[in-house]
Amino acid sequence: MSAAPAHERVTARIDPPWDAHAWRAAARAALCAGLPPERLDWSGGAQGSLLGGLDLASLPAHRTAPRVPSEFLLLAGAVLCNRAEDRHGLLYRMLWRIAEGERALLQRASDPDVHRATTMAQAVRRDSHKMKAFVRFREVPGDTDRYIAWFEPDHHIVDRVAPFFARRFAGMRWAIVTPYRTAIWDGETLAFADGGVRADAPSEDAREDLWRTYYANIFNPARLNTTMMSAEMPQKYWKHLPEAALLPDLVRDAGLRVREMAEREHEAPRRRIPAAPAPAPVVAGTLEALRESARDCRRCPLWQPATQTVFGEGPSSARTMIVGEQPGDEEDLSGRPFVGPAGRLFSRALDELGIDRSTLYLTNAVKHFRFEPRGKRRLHKRPDVAHIEACNGWLRAEIAQVKPERIVCLGASAARAVFGPGVRLTEERGIWRTRDDGVRAFATVHPSWVLRQGDPQAQAAAYAGFVDDLRQLLAA
Ligand code: URA
Repeated sequence: MSAAPAHERVTARIDPPWDAHAWRAAARAALCAGLPPERLDWSGGAQGSLLGGLDLASLPAHRTAPRVPSEFLLLAGAVLCNRAEDRHGLLYRMLWRIAEGERALLQRASDPDVHRATTMAQAVRRDSHKMKAFVRFREVPGDTDRYIAWFEPDHHIVDRVAPFFARRFAGMRWAIVTPYRTAIWDGETLAFADGGVRADAPSEDAREDLWRTYYANIFNPARLNTTMMSAEMPQKYWKHLPEAALLPDLVRDAGLRVREMAEREHEAPRRRIPAAPAPAPVVAGTLEALRESARDCRRCPLWQPATQTVFGEGPSSARTMIVGEQPGDEEDLSGRPFVGPAGRLFSRALDELGIDRSTLYLTNAVKHFRFEPRGKRRLHKRPDVAHIEACNGWLRAEIAQVKPERIVCLGASAARAVFGPGVRLTEERGIWRTRDDGVRAFATVHPSWVLRQGDPQAQAAAYAGFVDDLRQLLAA
């Protein structure tokens, strides 16, 4: 099928090397010219000029481009952001194979090309996640409302992730400087420029004291898991994080603070009872694999303004699963369910009942935070049925993996997610029902509803009712 002169090598230059449009145009031209992968040299950015060979643009087209599965284009978009030198060639080889008839290539996970591309895409997604979580803007001195952040990604992800920051910080003027690329948002347009150096970003701003105070307050020593922390927040990012300066002391004192908390256990009542120790790690390759895929969930639009997916957490062998509505502001920032005010109230109720929170699997009907921006605040907004439906696959998968004996639904959204349409919380509150899969479940009020009760008496009554409902877990 080859139509270009059979002996000559051909060069395709992709500049910048992560540009998906440029790669697609080149790959399409090469396919139409019938050029097999072994005759094509790919080069990205500066190395382009080092390679000789025929220019791809000079080759005549001999056939029309085949239709390419959208799944492949999605994968290619991520792989192109990986720094690996062979990314362009790898993708073209896969495209060639698909065009030559291997339509189901992507379904063959053990194929070396598919495996390598998937691993490369995964590294890019992880890196993107880290960027969303660890970029910290600093106010430019003397220029109110202009912010600059310094970040060192492992891969070429700035163009991919910058739109997230444009949506999330639409009202600010900001720049994210990295060693290879700078993204700039002027409040209306996203632009890109060359990379910079760390000194381009201010090193500290006045708000950071506030943030450190907040962080030290929400830091829960009883849930400290340094292995997970190092995996989720590698030390290379610490230098950009205002809270990082606190970490060595917080980590060092954690044991002491946990012991103090244990010794205080008999003192009642307490306004804020810390959560139990971190849950045992989940069985590798099961819930972890689900969590990994859910990171990039796009099943509904809630992922866009949210910081990250907040997946369920707890032992894979948990007897009891707790399903909430959706992550709140603190959950969205920390990536963990039930760590904000509602979660703390829930922990307090568990403590009163003597139920160890670390034995429960905690998750939500919807895994992204839905909110309405109000100035600098993000106000919780209830998810719609469409969001609950879109997210239900994740919950079903969690139930299938954990196989809990019983489920407690906190609030109407959770009840809808667990039982389907038609459940009325007012009528069914606290009543056990058996689902089609044999799992027993009941619904109670959401802890944030308890918190919303205006006067202290109403709140105390609502709380007592909530604890009473949960008490059923002791008997069942
Ligand atoms: N409310 C929920 O329903 N879930 C959380 O994770 C936090 C608050």
